[in-house]
Amino acid sequence: MSSSRKFFVGGNWKMNGNKASIDGIIDFLKKGPLNPNTEVVVGCPQCYLSYTRENLPEEIGVAAQNCYKVPKGAFTGEISPAMIKDCGCKWVILGHSERRNVFGESDELISEKVGHALEAGLKVIACIGEKLEERENNQTDEVVFAQMTALQPNITDWSRVVLAYEPVWAIGTGKTATPEQAQDVHAKLRNWLSENVSSEVAESCRIIYGGSVSPANCAELAKMGDIDGFLVGGASLKPDFVTIINAR
Ligand code: 13P
Repeated sequence: MSSSRKFFVGGNWKMNGNKASIDGIIDFLKKGPLNPNTEVVVGCPQCYLSYTRENLPEEIGVAAQNCYKVPKGAFTGEISPAMIKDCGCKWVILGHSERRNVFGESDELISEKVGHALEAGLKVIACIGEKLEERENNQTDEVVFAQMTALQPNITDWSRVVLAYEPVWAIGTGKTATPEQAQDVHAKLRNWLSENVSSEVAESCRIIYGGSVSPANCAELAKMGDIDGFLVGGASLKPDFVTIINAR
């Protein structure tokens, strides 16, 4: 077990909120108190990136929830990493299961987006995870390794990547992976990094868990040696998020 990896808690607001509710989130984050040993980043809707960045304390990062794979051009409805940076934000969430499964984004497209975001200077929360039927068919390892294999060629700087393992069956369902189930996949992902990237990257890369993380289950999950933090959906909108940030 390593203590060299800084604990990382991301909040993914998804398509929720308005200026008034964001003010409420900013208030409870300011009030904290937040463990200074936890890196905190909130993922907010793109129209609120500037507003959130301008109003949140500087030590809390702000992420976009998606971006496209080129700097600019005729791509109606898309935003680029350059625009995210221009709004003062340093992070982007890419490959979220809702992007993959609701909007049909492929492994290849996600990998290209990650490559361009890194090239443009952003830090990336790259998400992977299996669906329920894949887990039930014992295909979890195969699925997450295939997602990793697709990502890898475009990852030029692993120090700016946080890997989020989010089993699709645990997202928004209240059905959290047990600490053992999550630890098992995280350890396999770390081993994959060791074999396919380098032992240094395997040792230093934060692998965070997402899927129905709550104040009630975060402490047990945070005890596992290969769980370096969380990506939190619903609970990141509520004051309880502070408890999750302070889970370790
Ligand atoms: P929930 O925490 O609401 O299950 O969402 C998890 C998630 O998708 C975070 O990206």
